[in-house]
Amino acid sequence: MTSFSNYVVPLVSFSLFVIFVLKWFFNPASTAGKKLPPSPPKLPVIGNLHQLSLYPHRALQTLSKRYGPLMMLHLGSVPTLVVSSADAALEIMKTNDLIFSNRPKVTIPDKLVYGSKDIAFAPYGEHWRQVRSICVLHLLSNKRVQSFRYIREEETDLLIQKIRQSSSSSTSVTNLSNLLVSLTNDTISRVALGRKYSDGEAQGSTKFELMLKEIMELSGVFNAGDFIPWLKWISKVNGFDARADKVIKSFDEFLSGVVEDHRNRNQGKTDLDDSSNHADLVDLLLEIQRENKSSFTLDDETIKAVIFDMFGAGTDTTYTSLEWTMAEALRHPEIMKKLQNEVKQVVGSKKQVAEEDLEKMLYLKAVLKESLRLHPPIPLLIPHQSTQDTKIMGYHIAAGTQVFINAWAIAMDPMNWENPEEFNPERFLKNTALDFRGFNFEYIPFGAGRRGCPGITFAVTVNELALAKLILNFDFALPIGVKEWDLTEDSGSTVHKKNPLLVVATPSC
Ligand code: HEM
Ligand SMILES: *[C@@H]1O[C@H](CO)[C@@H](O)[C@H](O)[C@H]1NC(C)=O
Ligand SMILES: *[C@@H]1O[C@H](CO)[C@@H](O)[C@H](O)[C@H]1NC(C)=O
Ligand SMILES: *[C@@H]1O[C@H](CO)[C@@H](O)[C@H](O)[C@H]1NC(C)=O
Repeated sequence: MTSFSNYVVPLVSFSLFVIFVLKWFFNPASTAGKKLPPSPPKLPVIGNLHQLSLYPHRALQTLSKRYGPLMMLHLGSVPTLVVSSADAALEIMKTNDLIFSNRPKVTIPDKLVYGSKDIAFAPYGEHWRQVRSICVLHLLSNKRVQSFRYIREEETDLLIQKIRQSSSSSTSVTNLSNLLVSLTNDTISRVALGRKYSDGEAQGSTKFELMLKEIMELSGVFNAGDFIPWLKWISKVNGFDARADKVIKSFDEFLSGVVEDHRNRNQGKTDLDDSSNHADLVDLLLEIQRENKSSFTLDDETIKAVIFDMFGAGTDTTYTSLEWTMAEALRHPEIMKKLQNEVKQVVGSKKQVAEEDLEKMLYLKAVLKESLRLHPPIPLLIPHQSTQDTKIMGYHIAAGTQVFINAWAIAMDPMNWENPEEFNPERFLKNTALDFRGFNFEYIPFGAGRRGCPGITFAVTVNELALAKLILNFDFALPIGVKEWDLTEDSGSTVHKKNPLLVVATPSC
């Protein structure tokens, strides 16, 4: 008996000591005693990185069903809060919007946009506020978007013409994805740069395409050093840094050329107050730089970073959303039929869609909304970051925490949506107040709050017009030998269709 207790006492006290040391070691003083959001178990070093899979929005939805609408993940050494319900999103992007309006620094985008001198990746602060308000005022406001109407009309007409050409015989297959990329890319190119660089005559065009592709590829590549600081050397050894530096250099040359072109072309003739003029974004930015009125100086790097943002944030997202909408409409013949009836009825005998008509196409608007619900192009939004310690739903969130908002999971939440898996535009007809402008937190494909997408009106007007014209002008069918419309997702931070949308288009009028 005595010999037994002789062993037990030291053993117990030793164990208690070990537990104490471990607890002290793993609970830094700042969080000790504070309630943290639930976390799935993590591995040493990589933390929860292995749980993201190729489809992070889906993997995170699955985890959130188990750990709740606010959960804490560790992506390598980066603490990441994952938000998966409308209530939690409202807490972050409305109640505590100011605290969560920062962005984490990510290597490749940071380098690409001259040390985050753009809008989307800029840290919260004066620079971001100034550049964002310039872009909103001169490019993305309702008034400016209206003034680019002729560009939208020309580019959507061109889309219809191209489809007519490629569908010369009743069996020829049209690559709709390809044409939709050109539509949004060319539209943005014309309003931002004043012309298209894709016409083929310019030597730079193929180069630009290759550059964009390389950038998209590099941005999608997992950069270990961003999550595990002592792995930073990997990107040097595997050639990743070198590739990035190379494409950044050639992109910079392209953008510098664009800026110089504009500088030589019009030396201070742009009237900033005249929203009806046909000046492009670069003209306007240069004019603001020349006037140098505010305390904020607009340097060349900022101008180039902003142009980069318009392509980076605007093209991919806008075309993807249109591509998903067409794919869903094609997959549901009864929805396509309704769309056709509405468009034909509104347009009537004039046989052409005008922008005024769109206001009357309520079903078409509902179809676009439903497509953005099931297929938000950026399902996790752009990561946010907190700037100070705070409490959300009773949990302690430390300053510097990265935040993923799973807009897709929120829009699939059965608490807020009946049969969420079903593509059913009628739900938006029943509740017309339900909108994507950041006031209904159960539906936030463009984000919300200070960091919400400033390009909503721009994107929606192009897409509504393009969709109406496509529906009015053609009947679409599957290519011969293909059995059904495919809706497989590709992996990546912007979620595209994996396979291009190939159709047989027959002119319907
Ligand atoms: C259907 C098309 C589009 C979708 C789904 C979309 C979605 C988004 C999302 C989810 C964000 C992040 C919001 C957040 O972090 O809370 C964002 C940010 C942004 N978007 Fe869009 N977007 C679209 C079109 C456009 C267009 C056409 C432009 C401009 C030409 C644009 C410019 C931007 C910019 C500059 C930001 C960064 C805002 C900031 O950080 O302050 N977007 N967008
Ligand atoms: C269709 O267009 C997309 C986008 O440009 C391209 O990636 C794809 O290879 C094209 N596919 C076919 C079969 O033409
Ligand atoms: C996108 O626009 C740029 C700039 O105008 C152009 O160089 C490029 O070829 C375009 N890409 C596509 C796929 O249309
Ligand atoms: C703009 O004005 C500030 C002073 O207000 C000056 O420091 C800066 O050099 C000026 N920039 C340009 C490009 O003229």
